[in-house]
Amino acid sequence: MVEFKRHRRLRQSANMRALVRETYVHIDDLIYPIFITEEENVKSEISSMPGIYQFSIDRLKEEMDEVQALGIKSVLLFGIPKEKDECGTQAFHDHGIVQEGIKYIKANYPEMIVIADTCLCEYTSHGHCGVIEAGRVLNDESLELLVKAAISQAAAGADIIAPSNMMDGFVAAIRKGLDEAGFLDIPIMSYGVKYASAFYGPFREAADSTPQFGDRKAYQMDPANRLEAFREAESDVAEGADFLIVKPGLPYLDIVRDMKNEWDLPIVTYNVSGEYSMVKAAAQNGWIDEERIIMETMISMKRAGADLIITYFAKDVARMLKEQ
Ligand code: PBG
Repeated sequence: MVEFKRHRRLRQSANMRALVRETYVHIDDLIYPIFITEEENVKSEISSMPGIYQFSIDRLKEEMDEVQALGIKSVLLFGIPKEKDECGTQAFHDHGIVQEGIKYIKANYPEMIVIADTCLCEYTSHGHCGVIEAGRVLNDESLELLVKAAISQAAAGADIIAPSNMMDGFVAAIRKGLDEAGFLDIPIMSYGVKYASAFYGPFREAADSTPQFGDRKAYQMDPANRLEAFREAESDVAEGADFLIVKPGLPYLDIVRDMKNEWDLPIVTYNVSGEYSMVKAAAQNGWIDEERIIMETMISMKRAGADLIITYFAKDVARMLKEQ
């Protein structure tokens, strides 16, 4: 008989497997997204994302108490304003919904790391991530508005600014704006490697940010491209990003590994809305073991090289980690 290796030696029992386990998910790795609406007395479930809600500030305590009790240490905020206009003015209003949400959380949960998603699409009447002229999103003009949004979020108390609109130069512009406004110590978590993905579908219902015409392919990346991710990341790193997000998550783990191998800054993966909804839908049908699928997804992201995971499953993961 040919000689062979006995790999199963190390898989014989739970304790033996524990001894050789290479990857762990930790509560500190998780970032939980929250949708805050400017209406009053609202806790409204997003139909395509069972278990995820839009909250008004007066109801946010229900969610934040739970998040804090579970040991989650950072949240990512999205605001849904009452009024939208061409330029997304509410994105940089001192009393805008996200600014008020930041103030509320920092006042009541001061240790919580509050990350502000900095984009215009939730605030513009056309649903695009910048200013439109002749059907195109203008780059440099949009940057000016984005910088204003970032400064007002930092002024409201945000701990981290996370620009997601994929305009060229957004990290440089925001870094300069923050520094000039005195926010030298506020880090930028750049959605530098963001693909034009169908996996964002349910989010657009959650954040009420569906583009009213066209799509985002002229600013977000082509899913077919890998080398382009290196170019995008390179400029963000050069411009001063402190964290790099790869988005979506599960279908793009090859890119996560590439970025982890290439850069020495913390790599974040965004386990996006469509990834969440697919698991929920299959679980509701009884087709999969939801808890095992969630944990396997988290482990896979960490194994691929993600240091941090933005996920709608954060509360579920926190509960499972407590039980273990
Ligand atoms: C804002 C933004 C989007 C997501 C995060 N920030 C939507 C988009 O780019 O269309 C998607 C997150 C998700 O799907 O969970 N630009």
